[in-house]
Amino acid sequence: MAARESVKRVCLAYSGGLDTSVILRWLIEEYDCEVVAYCADVGQEEELSGLPEKARATGAVDCVVRDVREEFVRDYVYTAIKGGAIYEGVYLLGTALARPLIAKHHIDVARATGCDAVAHGATGKGNDQVRFELTFRALAPEIAVIAPWREWDLRSRTDCMSYAQKYDIPITATINKPFSIDRNLMHVSYEGGVLEDPWRAPDEDMFITTVAPEAAPDEPRELVVEFERGDPVALDGERLGPADLLARLNRIAGENGVGRIDMVENRFVGLKSRGVYETPGGTVLHVAHRAIESITMDREVMHERDRMAPRFAELIYNGFWFSPEMEMMRAAIDASQENVTGEVRLKLYKGNVDVLGRRSPVSLYSEKLVTFEDDDGAYDQADAGGFIRLQGLRLAARPK
Ligand code: ARG
Repeated sequence: MAARESVKRVCLAYSGGLDTSVILRWLIEEYDCEVVAYCADVGQEEELSGLPEKARATGAVDCVVRDVREEFVRDYVYTAIKGGAIYEGVYLLGTALARPLIAKHHIDVARATGCDAVAHGATGKGNDQVRFELTFRALAPEIAVIAPWREWDLRSRTDCMSYAQKYDIPITATINKPFSIDRNLMHVSYEGGVLEDPWRAPDEDMFITTVAPEAAPDEPRELVVEFERGDPVALDGERLGPADLLARLNRIAGENGVGRIDMVENRFVGLKSRGVYETPGGTVLHVAHRAIESITMDREVMHERDRMAPRFAELIYNGFWFSPEMEMMRAAIDASQENVTGEVRLKLYKGNVDVLGRRSPVSLYSEKLVTFEDDDGAYDQADAGGFIRLQGLRLAARPK
């Protein structure tokens, strides 16, 4: 907890919603400080145009909105795809990937506007507080951190509403959703509220970016994804920048019911938590990327990267994006992708993503070597006999 007297100006991660509006006012009241509001556009698709006015009306001295969508997809989402980052075998890490980027720009804005502290609206029970604050520690250990949810005595949405009323805080009437949502270009996540019962299926009208597989078109959608050095660069032959590519892919995959996930995951803080996710484009990219790797990647390089992947996912999930072990892993992952170039042909159909074909100018796949037809002596089948005899030596020698 930051010493209240020493804080003069706080940079607050602000969305314009109830929680962060209340926090804005609360900081001014409790810390007797100035507040600079900061918002990163990571593709949450919320109205950001009126945000500065709203922040000022609530008491902020300034409001900075940063569009970080391109950086998010290029440096975070694509890095996760290249590393095969999937947490506990299921979660594609949409929220976990955005947090370090949001926190990095948070520090940047805090410094540029002369703040001596940063504040965020993450609760004391979740992963997000850890991800934000580990990034703050890594990039700016001198900056004080204020986490109102761990400090104040407001306990519920009702408490926040009364606080807002008391201080005349402008609150746009938002429908009180019976769960918590976090959205960016990679995914939409839902947790809490009615989803806390892990036996209860979510209502169909909860989903924002995907249709139910059974409501998807009866015609399959074919699609070609092109990669260069592991990065997706084109859809159906059209070259697209990272943010545009993922946005387009989200739409195509979402229309075909691709990318819904329902799981109970282990939070870093020790709780088990039920999460529901929509990651349409990300799901397609993971499948397509593995398919292009299958013809372009050396076997041992692939297996080394695959051994690293669960640990890489865990580092992302736990908030260690800016850490020495992550730097080491990212260097290895980038090196593994040098030859991962080519195209993958896919079929999206009622929630499924099937690979129809793959090709590459730098393919390691050799029809000539693998063929059942005559290979002109390129592979001597007699060699396999000795190979198996030596591999089997110790197996044969075991007591029976
Ligand atoms: N459970 C997911 C994660 O830890 C999603 C968190 C969503 N955050 C939120 N504030 N609703 O990455």
